[in-house]
Amino acid sequence: MASVVVVGAQWGDEGKGKITDFLAARADLVVRYQGGNNAGHTVVADGKEFKLHLIPSGILYPEKMCLVGNGVVLDPAVFLQEIDRLTEQGISTANLRISPRTQVIMPYHRKLDLCEEKRRGAGKIGTTGRGIGPAYVDKAARVGIRVCELIDPPAFAQRLQAVLKDKNELLEKYYGESGFDYQALYDEYVAYGRRLAPFVADVSVIIDEALQAGRHVLFEGAQGTLLDVDHGTYPYVTSSYPVAAGACHGSGVGPTRIDRVIGVAKAYVTRVGEGPFPTELCDATGEYLRQKGHEFGTTTGRPRRCGWFDAVIARYAVRINGLSSLAITKLDVLTGLDTLRLCVGYEYRGQIIRDLPATLTQLAECKPVYEELPGWQEDIGTVRRYEDLPANARRYLERIVELCGVPVCIIGVGPGREQTLVLQELF
Ligand code: IMP
Repeated sequence: MASVVVVGAQWGDEGKGKITDFLAARADLVVRYQGGNNAGHTVVADGKEFKLHLIPSGILYPEKMCLVGNGVVLDPAVFLQEIDRLTEQGISTANLRISPRTQVIMPYHRKLDLCEEKRRGAGKIGTTGRGIGPAYVDKAARVGIRVCELIDPPAFAQRLQAVLKDKNELLEKYYGESGFDYQALYDEYVAYGRRLAPFVADVSVIIDEALQAGRHVLFEGAQGTLLDVDHGTYPYVTSSYPVAAGACHGSGVGPTRIDRVIGVAKAYVTRVGEGPFPTELCDATGEYLRQKGHEFGTTTGRPRRCGWFDAVIARYAVRINGLSSLAITKLDVLTGLDTLRLCVGYEYRGQIIRDLPATLTQLAECKPVYEELPGWQEDIGTVRRYEDLPANARRYLERIVELCGVPVCIIGVGPGREQTLVLQELF
C-alpha cells in the first residue's frame, strides 16, 4: 500500500490537476482535503476537456473512490452543478463521498467576500470571490454550517436561524447591502441537502479501512504552499492549509500514515491575485509565457502573473511539505526561449539570502539572483523518455534538482495524459 500527497509547490495553478489525474490511474482512492471552488483543475482525457473545481480528478476513472474531506469548504450549488455536468459528459459519480464534517459555503459568505474585498480597496487580496475566506472564518468562529447539519433539516434550521441574523446585520448595517430572507435560503439549501445526503459518509473511516486493506490513497491538494494561511505570503493567501500537513488535518488521517509527498511546480512560476513575486516578468518574456502557457485562471479567467523558476520558493516548499520529489509541469512552454533564468537566491540589502523571508516588506525588497542557462528550440511535446529531451532541457532540470535537493519524479511536456515522463514509479 502507499499513500501519496500531491501539493502545489508555488502559488497554485502548478498543473496539479494533470499530475493527480495521472497518479489517480494508479490509486484506489483520491481525496480532496482543503479549499473549495476557488480551485480549478483542467484535465484533458481522451481529447476531452474537463473542468473540475471541487470534485477530485479521480472522478474520471469510474472505479476510483473520490472523497471530499472535512478540510474543504463546499458550495452545494456548485458541487451539484459539477455532478450534473459530469453526468451529462457520461462520467459516473457513484463513487463520490463527502465528509459530514465538511463546512458549507452559504450565499452570505460569497457576498461578504466581495464586500470585504471592496472595503480593502488598494489593499485587496484579489480573492476569487467564492466565499472561501468568510466560510473558513465562520468555521473558526464556530458559527459555520457543516454538511451533517445541511442534510438534517431541524439541525439546519437551528444553525441558520442562529447565524443569519448576525450576517444580515453585518451586510445591511455595516456594508449597506441587502441581507438574505431566511425562508428562501432555508428552502433552497434544504433541497441541496436532500440531493447531497446520499454522498455523505465518514471519509476518515473510509481512508483508514482502505489503508488497512493495502489500497493506494492519493491526497489531492488545491492551491499551493505559498497560498497556505500559515506558511504562505500572508496576508495574500487563501484561508486553508494547502501544505502536505493539511492532508492529515483535512481528511482525518494521522501523519504516520503518509508515505510520500510530491510537490508540483511549473518549469516557471505564476501567481494570480496580489502580493510580492520576486521573479515576476512584466515584459515580453512574461507575455510569451502567459500566451504560450495559457496562463489565465480556470476559476476567474484572470490573466496570471508569470516569472522565472524560483529555487528559493521551491526549496521552501521542499522543507515545509517534506517533499519526497518534484513533478515539473509545462516544460514545453519554455521551448523557443534562447536563454533561461533560474533564481538561485535573493539579494536583500546587499546580502544574499537563500530562505524565504516571513515579512512581505522584506520579500518586496528582495531582488532575485539569477543563473542563466541556454534554452532549446526543439518541440518536446512528443518526447516520452527523459533521455530524449534536448540536452539543454535536461541541464535545466538537473540544475533544479541540485538547487532543491530532491529528485524530479514526473515531467509534463504538454497537456495530454500521454505527455508525461515518469522518472520514478510512485505507487
Ligand atoms: P481565495 O482563496 O478566493 O480567498 O483567494 C485568496 C488568494 O488565493 C487570491 O490571491 C487568489 O487568487 C488565490 N487563489 C485561490 N485559489 C487559487 C487557485 O486555485 N490557484 C491560484 N490562486 C488561487
